Amino acid sequence: MNTAAEILLDEHKTLFDAIEATKKVQKVKDVELYRKLIINFISFFKDFTEIYHHPKEEKILYKKILKHSKNIDNKILNEISGNHHELDEQIILVEQYYNENENENNKLKKAVDKYINLLFKHIWKENIILIKNLSYLLDEKELKSVAKSFIKLDEKYEKKKKLQNDITKLIKKISSK
Ligand SMILES: [Fe+2]
Ligand SMILES: [Fe+2]
Repeated sequence: MNTAAEILLDEHKTLFDAIEATKKVQKVKDVELYRKLIINFISFFKDFTEIYHHPKEEKILYKKILKHSKNIDNKILNEISGNHHELDEQIILVEQYYNENENENNKLKKAVDKYINLLFKHIWKENIILIKNLSYLLDEKELKSVAKSFIKLDEKYEKKKKLQNDITKLIKKISSK
């Protein structure tokens, strides 16, 4: 497998794991405990997608595919790309509900549910349509350049590994309960 695909699959795996753990947190009835746990996931989803994951796809990968590949319908790519806007808007709404009212958990839980469902479907679509077929969509030189840009982006913002390690620790803690 090419490095560009590996990097994205690794990030998708982290996101999938975080979604699964969030589903568990969604069942927590105690308001205080729920808020204490869920804020970690809200922050993680926001930072990880906003700083590292979506820019890789939107500013680097999708752009390259749109420019160079004749093997994909642009409509499909635009639809996948459009999901990012929905996700960005939804996580802002989630954050708003979290900050707005400490005792009103239902609105927050519903918004979190919507976010993780959207994210799950979106990642699944990307895996099946884009990442699995990346070697058909771009040639070797293009794939190398994409991977190089991914690595450069991660180096620029430095804290990706810390974000991934922190959330993995929390996921483990939650899964063992
Ligand atoms: Fe995406
Ligand atoms: Fe993705």
